[in-house]
Amino acid sequence: MAHATETLRSVVLGVGSYLPQRCLSNADLEKMVDTTDEWILKRTGIRQRYIAAEGEMTSMLATKAAEDALKAANISAQDIDLIIVATATPDYTFPSTATQVQAALGITHGVAFDVAAVCSGFVFGVATADKFLTSGSHKRALVIGAETFSRILDWNDRTTCVLFGDGAGAMVLEARKSEGSVADRGVLTTHLRSDGRHREKLYVDGGPSTTGKAGHLRMMGKEVFRHAVGMVTDVMTDAFAATGTTAADLDWFVPHQANERIIDASADKLGIDMAKIVKTVSLHGNTSAASIPLALATAVKDGRIKPGQLVMIEAMGGGFTWGSALIRW
Ligand code: UT7
Repeated sequence: MAHATETLRSVVLGVGSYLPQRCLSNADLEKMVDTTDEWILKRTGIRQRYIAAEGEMTSMLATKAAEDALKAANISAQDIDLIIVATATPDYTFPSTATQVQAALGITHGVAFDVAAVCSGFVFGVATADKFLTSGSHKRALVIGAETFSRILDWNDRTTCVLFGDGAGAMVLEARKSEGSVADRGVLTTHLRSDGRHREKLYVDGGPSTTGKAGHLRMMGKEVFRHAVGMVTDVMTDAFAATGTTAADLDWFVPHQANERIIDASADKLGIDMAKIVKTVSLHGNTSAASIPLALATAVKDGRIKPGQLVMIEAMGGGFTWGSALIRW
């Protein structure tokens, strides 16, 4: 009768990352707009960010991160039957960036598609993949967050251009039989939210159906900041309630890396030990959907995140969209 309680879980097999070669420091930005290293560091925690080379597209960053994740998972691209790319900076209006990654990896079976949730995209991707895998319809997923925000920044607007960077991160998930307990490995719970009334606080002023051009990112930073902490702590509280866990049970808190002050305030509100926070915002800037998998890959590669540990990821971004996922690594 043991089978009656058996369910499917999406278990993390590996994570990977890729950053473009060119590193842009705060000092470099001082020469481009009226800003200072001191202002950027104090207000955001960012020291540097990476910028994609000319001709280096989101799908190329995504493919490199995917290859790194497949290597870490010790599986072949042919073992993947679901690819989800979270991006707000696709190569083209269509086809999806995910299908370009699929082709670059030499995969001709299964399905590939993009999700659009801006900075929350990776959490939305993990939640979507988890639904596919735990339904039994698909076996192994690549969830990728990849962005080239440098292409949609207004490089004359100091209030936004200093904040963002390019990069990609990827995660391989596999459907495995599980007893379904909180102690078992895999994605334990996901909580996604959106509220379209907040569009004008963070948006891009163009697109295929409006201006016919890609447009530039516009943000009311203070307004976004004001909403962010409440929204992300709400969905983390939902994750704790759904699993009967508390902040004290977490081994690692891996938030979206937009602003160190938002990260610290969120952890403080929920009583998460500051020593458990993985922060990469100083090194990568805000890479939107790529920020969480880049941070995960950093903390796995340096030995902090280990199998069996409890990891909380969360993000908030344009839309607004926000979400959390609690994962037994
Ligand atoms: O990933 C999606 C979610 N996005 C976010 O989470 C971003 C959320 N927002 C933020 O992180 C912060 O609001 C910012 C970092 C964008 C801005 O920090 P802030 O403490 O809210 O500053 P502020 O916008 O109130 O600006 C303060 C001052 C202003 O000058 P006045 O009006 O006080 O004279 C700005 O004009 O700082 C000025 N300022 C700058 N000064 C130097 C704005 N940008 C810069 C700059 N360098 N780059």
